[in-house]
This record gives sequence, structure tokens and C-alpha cells, in this order.
Amino acid sequence: MEILGIDVGGSGIKGALVNAETGEMLTERHRIPTPSSRKPADMAQVVKQIVDHFNYEGPVGCGFPTIVKNGVCQSAGNLHPSWVDVNIDELFTEVTGREFTVLNDADAAGYASMNYGIGKGKQGLVIMITIGTGLGSGAFYNGILLPNFELGQIPYKKYSKIEQWAAASAKERENLTYEKWGKRFNKFLKYVELIISPDLIIVGGGTSKKWKEFNHLITIETDVVKAELMNNAGIIGPAVACLREKHHGHLTKKG
Ligand code: BGC
Repeated sequence: MEILGIDVGGSGIKGALVNAETGEMLTERHRIPTPSSRKPADMAQVVKQIVDHFNYEGPVGCGFPTIVKNGVCQSAGNLHPSWVDVNIDELFTEVTGREFTVLNDADAAGYASMNYGIGKGKQGLVIMITIGTGLGSGAFYNGILLPNFELGQIPYKKYSKIEQWAAASAKERENLTYEKWGKRFNKFLKYVELIISPDLIIVGGGTSKKWKEFNHLITIETDVVKAELMNNAGIIGPAVACLREKHHGHLTKKG
């Protein structure tokens, strides 16, 4: 079944049609910059533009960059604080006229990797880390999603959350080389390893495209691999999650 997958991010909102049974992307991705206000009404309009671009009438799967419980935004992440308590499913359905299934973006990306990518068949605790405006994390135990892991929220030095120091946005803001930023990312991974002892870490999100520039700086014991679906996992994952929710009436993602 063809499903529109949308990846809502702090800097861009991207969508593509996905074959949700095979995890294949069927079209080029369409990207529109996230409105600088990062407020609900403005962002919902961009989501509508993506739906309209594909002339799409079916159900939509959507990865969203905050904690999402039963379709409701529970934290602002890097978006406007007015997102907290907004029912994202309902808002996007109202604005687009399409049915939405919304889940956390990193959980969605992990969902794609665990079903169709490098995480397929991997047992134990597998963590998907997405590097973008924030540091997202999706946790899977024996292939089952443990929703809303928020490893980027660990406080670090003067920062209330380590993602403010080690995400791609910090690299950009401080104009850091990959060498400098990669050391920060490695420090973050060290905390992840210390706190939850994962069996495998999969690195995705926009910056994973530059894997060769920083993977030599990763020194932790745990195996760390690049998500070969890279940034497309953020689009494929929610489409697949949407189909499973429709057909099986459950999405482990939702609290
Ligand atoms: C949010 C997470 C999100 C991550 C990546 C963080 O700021 O707290 O929920 O997954 O950014 O977008």
C-alpha cells in the first residue's frame, strides 16, 4: 500500500510516497523549510503543502521532533513552546483533511531501520540516534519499540540538554569542523553507552550523510553503524508505522 510519509524537522519538512509493505520510497522527496516561527498553525500549513504537492488522499504517517503520546505533543523539543499539549494528529487532520498517524521522529526512523534497514533481525537493545537540529533517539528491544527515549535530554555542563552542545545545530551555530564536532558527538555516545549499555547504535538523520567525516572519532566499545537508509528513514518509518497501525490496530510507539 502506498502511504505518504512526512518527516517534520526543526529546519525542514520533507515528504515522499512510500510502499509501506516493502519500505521502498516511490518518489523523490519534497522538502519545504520549516517556518521560522516553528508554531503549530504555520507548520500545519507546510504539512498541507506537502500533502497537496503529492495530490494525496490516503492516510499519512508523520514523524515529529518531540515526545508524542497518543498523538499529543508532550514536549517542545526545538519547536515553539505552544506545541505542548497540542493534539498533532487532530491538528494535521483538520488542516489537511487527511487521516494522520504521528510518532516521534527518531522512533519513526528507527522503525524503518529495524524493519528494512541495517537493524533488521537485530536482537538485544538497539538504539537509533538521529543527528539534526536535535539529537533524537529511538530504542528497540528484540525489535520492539520502547517509545519516547530522549537521550538527547541528558544535561551537560552549562547546557540543560546535551543536544544543545552536540547536535548538528551546535556544529552550525559554532561553526565547528567535523573533527571538533565529532568529538562532542563521541562524548554523547559515551554517556549513552554508560547509561543504557546498548548492543548496537545506528546513526541516522541529516548529518549521517557525512559519516566518513566523523566516524573515525567514535571510540566507544559498542558497535556504531550508519543507517544505510540515511535521512530517508525519517520518511519511510512513519509510513510503515501508519500502515501497521491501520492493519493491526496497534502501534507500539503510542503510549
Ligand atoms: C526532541 C526529540 C526529537 C529530537 C530530534 C529533540 O529535541 O526532544 O523528541 O526526537 O529532538 O528531532
